Amino acid sequence: MKAVFYELPAEFIEKLKKIYPGSFPKVFESFLHRREETFRINYLKTDLPHLKEDLDREGIRYRELHWPKGSFILRSKSADFKKSSLYIDGKIYMQNISSMIPPILLDPRRGESILDLCAAPGAKTSQIASLGGRDIELVAVEKLEIRYQKLLATLRIQGLRDLVKARLADGMSAGKEYPGYFDKVLVDAPCSGEALFYLRDPKTFKPWNQKRVNGLSHTQKVLIYSGICALKAGGELIYSTCTFSPEENEEVVDWALRKFEDMRLMPIDLPVPNKVRGLTSWEGKRFSKDLNLAIRILPNECMEGFFLARLKKA
Ligand SMILES: C[S@@+](CC[C@H](N)C(=O)[O-])C[C@H]1O[C@@H](n2cnc3c(N)ncnc32)[C@H](O)[C@@H]1O
Repeated sequence: MKAVFYELPAEFIEKLKKIYPGSFPKVFESFLHRREETFRINYLKTDLPHLKEDLDREGIRYRELHWPKGSFILRSKSADFKKSSLYIDGKIYMQNISSMIPPILLDPRRGESILDLCAAPGAKTSQIASLGGRDIELVAVEKLEIRYQKLLATLRIQGLRDLVKARLADGMSAGKEYPGYFDKVLVDAPCSGEALFYLRDPKTFKPWNQKRVNGLSHTQKVLIYSGICALKAGGELIYSTCTFSPEENEEVVDWALRKFEDMRLMPIDLPVPNKVRGLTSWEGKRFSKDLNLAIRILPNECMEGFFLARLKKA
């Protein structure tokens, strides 16, 4: 059967060409294919040697990646993988490689208190726990009931129901509820998901329009504000999205830097070649020059497009 490809909104295409004048063709190509399926270890339930033994014993085909440590490309059919005891027991979690980066940058350590402000379905919450171990305090907030249920299911399967304090709540109030409390905060913001557009599935991009992007930009500013208020002095906040629009990325971080004199952007060191620096201006608006410390991950075969900024409170 011939593949049917739908057309992306012309306004979006023109915008993307301006965001990525050099790499537009490569970024556009990412809308034509599904990415490789990838998964990572859950260190709370197994270790790497045992995981690989189990994968081999269950006949799962995979390629181990050098980075991030404990991540793999799935070579078997995902339907088969999902029937394996490894999947059912939560020894692994299926997650795109780009989505694994925010918890790695957060670098959870023993004894730290950590807030995940937009948590469902819990990919990053469970990864933070996997990396940080049982001796962290982890609060995961999700606003939508239906997604909150998915978060609870993830926590149950990954063995984290007792460790993570899951809250059905609006992340916008976290700053008032926990003023200056957390060592680290993740704001993996609700976004227009432009990096997930797929030309064979118009549902992925049908809701897109610039008005929606502007509305999300406002929501994201309120969420990052709340996250910063919940952060203690010396603490770090990671802001991330899986979208390309500067209004949802650099503009949000620039806004936060102007609001909070005690917040600074920090460098991000990532051993991946498919990245560019954050924009320092967009459509005539000048952002702080420090936004070149933020990172845009360019999509490739196993990585979705992503935006990442690391901020520290003085
Ligand atoms: C990009 S998704 C998060 C993905 C998640 N961090 C993960 O890795 O699995 C954004 C989430 O934020 C939730 N959300 C939207 N507005 C929110 C708010 N005001 N407070 C808390 N969560 C919110 C959405 O329902 C959605 O589940």
